[in-house]
Amino acid sequence: MNRTRTVYRCTDCGAEAPKWTGWCGACAASGTLEPDEVAAGRASVGPLAPSVPAVPIAEAVAGGAEPIPTTIAEVDRVLGGGLVPGSVVVLGGEPGVGKSTLLLQVAAAMVATSGQRVLYVTAEESASQVAARAERLGALDPGLWLAAETALPHVLGLVDDVRPDVLVVDSIQALVDPTVGSSAGSMAQVRGCAHVLVAEAKRRGLTIVVVGHVTKEGGLAGPKVLEHVVDTVLSFEGERHHALRLLRATKHRFGGTHEVGLFEMGDGGLRGVPDPSALFLADRQPGITGTVVAPVLDGHRPLLVEVQALVVPTQAPFPRRTAQGVDSGRLAQVLAVLERRAGLLLSRAEVHVAVAGGVRVREPGVDLAVALAVASSLTERPVAGDVVACGEVGLGGELRQVHRTDRRLNEAARLGFREALVPPSAPEAPEGLRVVRTPSLCHALTTALNAPQTPPSVSEMSEPGTVRWPGGIPAQSRDVGRAGHRSSRHRSA
Ligand code: TYD
Ligand code: MG
Repeated sequence: MNRTRTVYRCTDCGAEAPKWTGWCGACAASGTLEPDEVAAGRASVGPLAPSVPAVPIAEAVAGGAEPIPTTIAEVDRVLGGGLVPGSVVVLGGEPGVGKSTLLLQVAAAMVATSGQRVLYVTAEESASQVAARAERLGALDPGLWLAAETALPHVLGLVDDVRPDVLVVDSIQALVDPTVGSSAGSMAQVRGCAHVLVAEAKRRGLTIVVVGHVTKEGGLAGPKVLEHVVDTVLSFEGERHHALRLLRATKHRFGGTHEVGLFEMGDGGLRGVPDPSALFLADRQPGITGTVVAPVLDGHRPLLVEVQALVVPTQAPFPRRTAQGVDSGRLAQVLAVLERRAGLLLSRAEVHVAVAGGVRVREPGVDLAVALAVASSLTERPVAGDVVACGEVGLGGELRQVHRTDRRLNEAARLGFREALVPPSAPEAPEGLRVVRTPSLCHALTTALNAPQTPPSVSEMSEPGTVRWPGGIPAQSRDVGRAGHRSSRHRSA
């Protein structure tokens, strides 16, 4: 066996250190150094491939390999059509999210409808466990081959025997290359196996899909080189207690990384969700205080989500704030703006904010809905059920337009919403939707909650969790929000 020595490698930047330290000397990340086995002595350089002449770039345009549809629409949407022959895809995700289920369904669908031959190698579960799952999923197709194997050379031997078009390996952390002198899942093993799989995929024109485990922080476990050498990195996400699963590409050499695939996990495995907005709003009860619908964007896909807030007065010195589905830092910022720019006294109130349905929103387009939901709960004034709110809240209390507002408004109109609260520069509304342009958060609150425009009395201000309403709105924006126009509808609730 080759002689090896142990070095310490940063899982973030890949830099090597001779000794363990608490942080990486190259990128300053803390706690990222992990032991790694490397060959002792000077690495020898293998034979060089024959040199290739340079050509004018226009001549290099080739009709690259066409993707082969997996025929699972939500997967094909993310991959931009399907799996490209000869490419290597890593599917990352937390344990139990449904990676094995998804890949078994993809394998079965490719066998059944694209006539592909698929070899599914399970390195973690037994063949009978996988077969039992396949039976449950209705995936017992004769073109789908199964093997329980952990040794990389044996896996390649199986590929020689079965001659599949697609190889699935579940997972790369459980695979071992005996020529690498360390245990399965180590950085050296993952790196070594990844290099071999990539070379084999290119050589044979074989499509390889491997499962990759993720770290606590959500990144792929193992060396960064894993992400560099493969063609596509997919991540499969979902909240543990919800059925919703999201598939997205974080790297894709054959297309964009802006599409998101949505699935629901059920008894029959994963089912695509073609109309997520309708799903997220299915059990909504319009007109409850503290709830506001926001059109958000996940990649290029517009989704309507319901933002909910509950504000509870408390005497606790440090009132609780919980954020589910929205970033807690972003929530703190919106609360600070509500307090300082709109005069809402929130420092003596617990604030809970959640996005219904297990969706995680990572963009500022939801700010306005969060602010309105909090203010609605605090003041016990509902926002009308047919209104959506869309915009970023600036630290000055101003509202700013977000990326692709037109798409978001189209989605709101499609689902029957009648009015959208948007920043002043927002595009024209699609048919059936009226846009209400609001320059500031104060103005949006007054408009959406039909609030009084004079501050409440001093005694009210001293109550914990009460609202100190902003003393009026800027004169030039009074007509823009048409607060008066809306008042009759809102007063009823
Ligand atoms: P699995 O695919 O094993 O997850 P991973 O490979 O990412 O660890 O799926 C795990 C969960 O999915 C498990 O808790 C059971 C659930 N599940 C269903 O709800 N329905 C199904 O049809 C299947 C196959 C799994
Ligand atoms: Mg699994």
